[in-house]
Amino acid sequence: MKTNEQLTQTVFAIFGGSGDLTWRKLVPSLFNLFQNLSMPQEFSIIALDRIDLKIEVLHHRLREGVAKFSREGKVNDEHWQLFASHISYIQGDFTKPDIYNSLKDQLQKLEEKWKIKPQIIFYMATPSIMFGVIPKHLKEASLAADHERARIVVEKPIGSDIASALKLNHMLTSNFRESQIFRIDHYLGKETVQNILAFRFANPLFEPIWNRRYVDYVTITVAEDLGIAHRGTYYEEAGALRDMVQNHMMQLLCLVAMEPMVSFDADEIRNKKVDVLHAVRPIPADKVNEFAIRGQYGTGNSSGKEVLAYRKECMVSPESNVETYAALKLFVDNWRWQDVPFYLRTGKRLPRQVSEVTIQFRAVPHKSFPVETTADWQAASLIMSIQPDEGIVLCFQAKQPGTKLLLKPVTMRFNYQESFSIPIPDAYETLLWDVMNNDATLFMRADQVEAAWNIVMPILDEWSGNPPLDFPNYSAGTWGPEAANRLFDPGHHWPTPTELTKKMN
Ligand code: BG6
Repeated sequence: MKTNEQLTQTVFAIFGGSGDLTWRKLVPSLFNLFQNLSMPQEFSIIALDRIDLKIEVLHHRLREGVAKFSREGKVNDEHWQLFASHISYIQGDFTKPDIYNSLKDQLQKLEEKWKIKPQIIFYMATPSIMFGVIPKHLKEASLAADHERARIVVEKPIGSDIASALKLNHMLTSNFRESQIFRIDHYLGKETVQNILAFRFANPLFEPIWNRRYVDYVTITVAEDLGIAHRGTYYEEAGALRDMVQNHMMQLLCLVAMEPMVSFDADEIRNKKVDVLHAVRPIPADKVNEFAIRGQYGTGNSSGKEVLAYRKECMVSPESNVETYAALKLFVDNWRWQDVPFYLRTGKRLPRQVSEVTIQFRAVPHKSFPVETTADWQAASLIMSIQPDEGIVLCFQAKQPGTKLLLKPVTMRFNYQESFSIPIPDAYETLLWDVMNNDATLFMRADQVEAAWNIVMPILDEWSGNPPLDFPNYSAGTWGPEAANRLFDPGHHWPTPTELTKKMN
């Protein structure tokens, strides 16, 4: 790992520099990197945005964001002053050349001051409508030409369907090379998500049974207790399928299902992930209802409080048909996974926040124990808990102590907090560090984004063509619509939260 002395001079040019993402995620993460001596000794953060803003006002707001959202919480005054001295602001319109010329001038000055060409990271923390405009202007201002030093970061959503994703990828690659483009899916920056690879491929234990012979089915849950907060306008265009399934959940699926990589090379890992997406069995257009269930929350109780129905949320149509819940049943058609169902579910206003993957193993081929000893028998399972209880739990049978033979399910667990007494970095810290180090392993390549869109397209088409008749179909604070259970093969089910809590404790 490089130390900050070895890191090359770096400029972050953040388009949308006065916006929400910069406030909540980017600056708090950059500040943490700075505090942990993981920023280069010479760096500059140039915030760019439309509004007229005094630098003191911007600094004040950003400091507030750090205090509120950074995992470290309290801001050390001296550290902040030092850090803030690296932040400047350029006001302008992203659709006009002027702002790019001002940026160019500022970069020139930094180059003269540092006596070296810095690497430049253009970060598009803007509404997606700008994703085509900014790269084009950067190229026209000759800011994209240095293929080694200039990089561009794109936030999701990468398109809203396959056609728009292809168009967007085309616009990006007409102005930057693929190797310069870093498409963010912040799930990939989460430690527990990265640990799926370490767990699978740094241990010989589970890989031999990580296949259709031993695995009965897999569930992937990304549940949130929150509603859509102030994001009504965005969410009305997105819905759960676009917001969570096409990106975050597909990434989890890839990591669970992929073949071992030959080396830790970014493209090698990304190739193995794309292979999974290409192997997902296409959902037939006339059978979408057998493979996908949608839901929308009505009023209900969340964390002891009465909460609004989705249709009553701010900036949401009172007749909205947008789904706030989606559950899918997928198959990965290859030698490893043929006919093993992968059940995916995600939703807003579910009873609690929990993201986890469960590998449910098959029952033993022959139960040699007397029937009366196995009343509580449960097939073994492995739970990879992404958040909030970061860890791994293995559930298996053990003999209960006593003279009588009795088998009981028990658990073995690994908990991040207990095993490593170091704080878990925020996903954005990891991702920003990787962009600075030109490591694209945790970023999405164009073909991966497109393959993920291809998987969800039949569902999007069916759902947009056939408005739901039963919305809202689950109450806030419950585990989603009953209909989601229809996806299951006999004997399969979602792991219940009580089971999980019990297993983590
Ligand atoms: C974002 C979605 O990508 O991920 C949000 O747009 C969602 O709707 C969020 O709440 C979840 O991320 P995390 O890190 O809180 O699990």
